[in-house]
Amino acid sequence: MLRQIPLSALLLGLASILPTTVASPFDKAEALAECLSKSGVPTDSFESPDWKLDVSPFNLRLNYTPVGIVVPSNVQHIQDAVACAVRIGVKANAKCGGHSYGSFGLGGEDGHLTIEMDRMNKIILDNTTGIARVEGGARLGHVASELYNQGKRAVSHGTCPGVGVGGHALHGGYGMSSHTKGLALDWIVGATVVLANSTVVNCSKTENPDIFWAIRGAGSSIGIVTEFRFATFQVPDVVTIFVAPVNWRTEAAATIGFKAVQDFALNEMPAELNMRLFIAKAFTNLEGLFYGDKAGLQAALAPLMKKTNATLALAQQGDWLAQVKHFGNGVNVDQTHPYNYHETFYSSSLYTNELNETQMAAFVSYWFKHAKSNKRDWYVQIDLHGGKTSAVSKPDPAETAYAHRDYLFMYLFYDRVDKGVYPTEGFTTVGNFVKNVTNTLEDNSWGQYINYPDSRMDQETAQARYWGQHLPRLQAIKKQVDPDNLFHFPQGVLPA
Ligand SMILES: Cc1cc2nc3c(=O)[nH]c(=O)nc-3n(C[C@H](O)[C@H](O)[C@H](O)COP(=O)(O)OP(=O)(O)OC[C@H]3O[C@@H](n4cnc5c(N)ncnc54)[C@H](O)[C@@H]3O)c2cc1C
Ligand SMILES: *[C@@H]1O[C@H](CO)[C@@H](O)[C@H](O)[C@H]1NC(C)=O
Ligand SMILES: *[C@@H]1O[C@H](CO)[C@@H](O)[C@H](O)[C@H]1NC(C)=O
Ligand SMILES: *[C@@H]1O[C@H](CO)[C@@H](O)[C@H](O)[C@H]1NC(C)=O
Ligand SMILES: *[C@@H]1O[C@H](CO)[C@@H](O)[C@H](O)[C@H]1NC(C)=O
Ligand SMILES: *[C@@H]1O[C@H](CO)[C@@H](O)[C@H](O)[C@H]1NC(C)=O
Ligand SMILES: *[C@@H]1O[C@H](CO)[C@@H](O)[C@H](O)[C@H]1NC(C)=O
Repeated sequence: MLRQIPLSALLLGLASILPTTVASPFDKAEALAECLSKSGVPTDSFESPDWKLDVSPFNLRLNYTPVGIVVPSNVQHIQDAVACAVRIGVKANAKCGGHSYGSFGLGGEDGHLTIEMDRMNKIILDNTTGIARVEGGARLGHVASELYNQGKRAVSHGTCPGVGVGGHALHGGYGMSSHTKGLALDWIVGATVVLANSTVVNCSKTENPDIFWAIRGAGSSIGIVTEFRFATFQVPDVVTIFVAPVNWRTEAAATIGFKAVQDFALNEMPAELNMRLFIAKAFTNLEGLFYGDKAGLQAALAPLMKKTNATLALAQQGDWLAQVKHFGNGVNVDQTHPYNYHETFYSSSLYTNELNETQMAAFVSYWFKHAKSNKRDWYVQIDLHGGKTSAVSKPDPAETAYAHRDYLFMYLFYDRVDKGVYPTEGFTTVGNFVKNVTNTLEDNSWGQYINYPDSRMDQETAQARYWGQHLPRLQAIKKQVDPDNLFHFPQGVLPA
């Protein structure tokens, strides 16, 4: 048997006309199932209702078929599943909320073992230390609900209640509290991780500090986080959500308006304000969350309102859960299993610093001359991510593997269809938007966000864009903890 491997390698050139002799992961499905069964790891049986639910990613454009799906309910199950994947020779990935835009929870390609974490979603808040133990399969809405109910506390995180804490917090986690309170990963104080050799380790600032550093930015490439320890903050009694539409009819007006937003983010924006410029097909809004009451919000926004001609259409005081619900688009906040909401889309992203005139003109020009004629349901969300007053930019960039703290703006480009297949023409529309901007930027003066991935990038480019200056250290750690790249996916960190 073994001798056939080099032979088949010689025949690779003929593979397209000969019946394939290269082993497919699906040839190993039976052996894998047997190993898992012997170890007592719970699995979804092929095509069962649970299989269908668990195999279905948020982004239906990128469906992949795993070689098996395990549904662990404890750490030992995960260790055993990892051991079987290694023994049988298939790749393995954790899937938490399944919300990766590249379906990386399924491995981003066919034939991986999916470790479906979402049944492991317990959350226990220690009221005396303020530290929450959050299992690696919880969804953000469940985290927010539990922390609030158990002690009126919270972690900073993004907006969609169905997003998994696993993917979200291990790669960034930016939301409507981040300008005030930082990224989700800034609140991680420790974690329990199953490594590729199926050992389980804890990590923190003092225990396995390299692993602790690496999971805060690139966790999916390092191991499977079974539990997070999050520090938490006491939620403010009153917060104010707001929506302020702008009506920039011409490129000239949009340039003045966007420039005013940029100047505000650089110089005046109070730490208590969290805001994005949301550009959609039919409208453009300034929108966000203020830590404080309506009068405080109005005072904070006043200088910007004049310069942008924005009107404050909505400014509503409420409690913490009310804002979570608002930014979650009104869906039930406390999401667990089963979860079954999907879209069909293509996305890309960008981080930039302050744009100069040429660069801003490039953005606005593509927006008006090309994006506006895109008939699909598209948007560009520009988060006011960094800057002097932002909590995201406060920590030393070397403290975690998140490589983008210093950037002022974080852009999400999102283009979806309501039904049917996403058209290939969309790749050009979105891609050209990004390229028209990056074309005017110096090399190495911009980045991209793996939680808003561009699924069409090759692995080498993706690694550079997602991890920038941190890539060499990440690849060295990857070599130590996962030299054979068990936790592979097409845009993951490769071992040095
Ligand atoms: C509707 C929607 C709204 C969003 N809003 C925001 C937002 O406001 N801010 C923001 O920053 N992002 C946002 N995102 C992006 C989101 O943060 C990422 O898609 C995130 O990676 C999703 O995590 P997940 O666990 O749901 O995804 P999955 O597809 O399950 O996992 C994503 C990646 O993380 C890995 N992973 C998951 N769990 C673990 C674990 N326990 N241990 C190790 N690796 C793990 C997977 O293997 C995979 O590589 C949004 C996404 C959607 C779909
Ligand atoms: C934690 O504190 C809150 C607020 O003081 C209280 O309502 C809740 O019961 C406490 N929870 C636990 C588990 O002690
Ligand atoms: C990891 O830390 C948790 C919580 O402190 C503890 O219960 C567990 O035993 C530790 N595991 C290891 C492998 O050290
Ligand atoms: C705001 O309105 C004034 C008066 O109509 C106009 O001169 C200015 O260009 C507008 N600015 C923007 C950013 O729309
Ligand atoms: C903006 O910056 C780019 C890249 O450094 C440069 O090529 C361009 O000339 C600058 N434009 C202006 C108006 O300064
Ligand atoms: C900018 O967009 C236009 C219009 O879609 C496209 O023709 C051009 O190639 C793009 N520029 C770059 C550098 O990609
Ligand atoms: C598992 O991998 C870790 C990280 O490389 C290493 O420290 C540990 O010794 C390994 N354990 C075993 C049993 O090989």
